[in-house]
Amino acid sequence: MVMIAPSLLAADFGNLRQEVERLETSGADMLHWDVMDGHFVPNLTFGVPVIEAMRGASRLPFDVHLMVEKPEKMLGWFAKAGADYITVHAEAVADLRQTIEQIHALGVKAGVALKPQTKPEVLREVLAMVDLVLVMTVEPGFGGQKFMREMLPKIGLLKEMKGDKRLILSVDGGINRQTAPDAASAGADMLVAGTAVFTGANIRENINFLR
Ligand code: DX5
Ligand code: ZN
Repeated sequence: MVMIAPSLLAADFGNLRQEVERLETSGADMLHWDVMDGHFVPNLTFGVPVIEAMRGASRLPFDVHLMVEKPEKMLGWFAKAGADYITVHAEAVADLRQTIEQIHALGVKAGVALKPQTKPEVLREVLAMVDLVLVMTVEPGFGGQKFMREMLPKIGLLKEMKGDKRLILSVDGGINRQTAPDAASAGADMLVAGTAVFTGANIRENINFLR
């Protein structure tokens, strides 16, 4: 069964703690934190203090999706804030292997995110080391965008490359009740969803439907 990682980007930031608690009681598998710096992507969200403050509100694993330039220098901060997974963009780091080793040395699981135009081949050398691959099915930067169906073959290719490795193949962007089945049958182990989880009154029902 596919895992669901709600993105807090679509949460009510005025009541973030209740939102985090609500996700846990509604059956989320992991929480997805979209950190944006206004440089790697045009948008700006939240950073270390917010994640650190929310760490105590949930026992769920935290995946911190770093949409920032030069994430290398921030890894220690997010590890200390309580990240279980730190996901860096392949396009943002100077040396992917070294960055993954740096994340592991902090005692954190390492994820690598790929923008839509980035070829899965960039992972070839490091696939055996990574704990999570995040396939972007929208251009990173904003929630509520349309799922890029043309990414489905890329998900399939990554599933093939993954073979029997233990890494989580996660898909992020535009996941909703219509697109979730396609992403899952293409090979996703985990679906990240913001809008589709928080729209309407019943988060539990939304999560269950997607799963
Ligand atoms: C986009 C983020 C995604 C996105 C998910 O830059 O990485 O996590 O916000 O939001 P929805 O589900 O609304 O596409
Ligand atoms: Zn994300």
